[in-house]
Amino acid sequence: MISGKAMVCGVIGNPVGHSLSPMMHNYYGEALKLDYIYVPCNVDDDKVGEAIRGAYALGFEGINVTVPHKQRVMEHLLEIDDAARCIGAVNTLVRMEGGYKGYNTDADGLYRAIMGHGINPEGKDCLMIGAGGAAKAVAYMLMKHGAASVVILNRTMDKAWTLAEEMNRQFGRETIKAMALEDYGKLEKEHYLAFQTTSVGMYPKVGHAPIEDTAFYKKIQTAVDIVYTPAKTRFMELVEEAGGQAVGGLDMLIYQGIIAFELWNPGVIVTEKMVDTVRQMMTERLNNR
Ligand code: ATR
Repeated sequence: MISGKAMVCGVIGNPVGHSLSPMMHNYYGEALKLDYIYVPCNVDDDKVGEAIRGAYALGFEGINVTVPHKQRVMEHLLEIDDAARCIGAVNTLVRMEGGYKGYNTDADGLYRAIMGHGINPEGKDCLMIGAGGAAKAVAYMLMKHGAASVVILNRTMDKAWTLAEEMNRQFGRETIKAMALEDYGKLEKEHYLAFQTTSVGMYPKVGHAPIEDTAFYKKIQTAVDIVYTPAKTRFMELVEEAGGQAVGGLDMLIYQGIIAFELWNPGVIVTEKMVDTVRQMMTERLNNR
């Protein structure tokens, strides 16, 4: 039961109606018998500052921030965590005296998700497809966890360059290189750990992958598609057809939420059994859309 003293958290986005976060967070609250409620809040693009001040005044303990407000929200915060600053986006706010501190739980969420599938980027030759917002969290995660090398393949070469340079500078080593997407034939290594970070293949435009050539997929040993709907993307199918292991993006979504939940509820543990239940609930919701 939610009492008058309940901890209130929520998510802001525009639109927010499709968000799976309320289901996920309210389930954890119930399963752990916490006096905790999580609400969806649609916030217009020009109302983010007002929304943050309003949420603070209303006593919200934590807020998730989703598309398209992840950058915009940064100017309305008291403090920003180093990882979030490096990634250039905030997806989780934690209440402090006088305002909120911004975090980004995507990189750590992705790391926990892949480690759960037995995928450790440490010492690996990695490649990424895409250089947009989602790619920044992936690149940060790979740098933080000691990838041996990273090639960013992107349609617009400039964006890949900028991301590579920014991350190399932040970490003080030249781990990341940029390459035009069409130059994938020039990739020097084999057995890559690959990350698909573009929205290509995402519902409802399923059945597409950023690269279709089977020769490319022969170079991939393990791959992660950060797209979570459909559960198996065309990219994942191509990886598997070439003999590689492919993992979808649902666990990244789940673990970025768990890390936010842990920031708001220090010391509270989400069990593996609860993660399994949430995975099942989310899969059902996505299938019944
Ligand atoms: P997000 O924040 O979800 O990452 P984004 O910032 O718009 O979204 O970035 C989308 C990424 O997908 C970009 O790397 C984009 O490539 P460009 O930089 O060349 O635009 C990539 N992308 C989108 N559609 C693509 C397509 N059809 N083929 C290849 N890459 C594509």
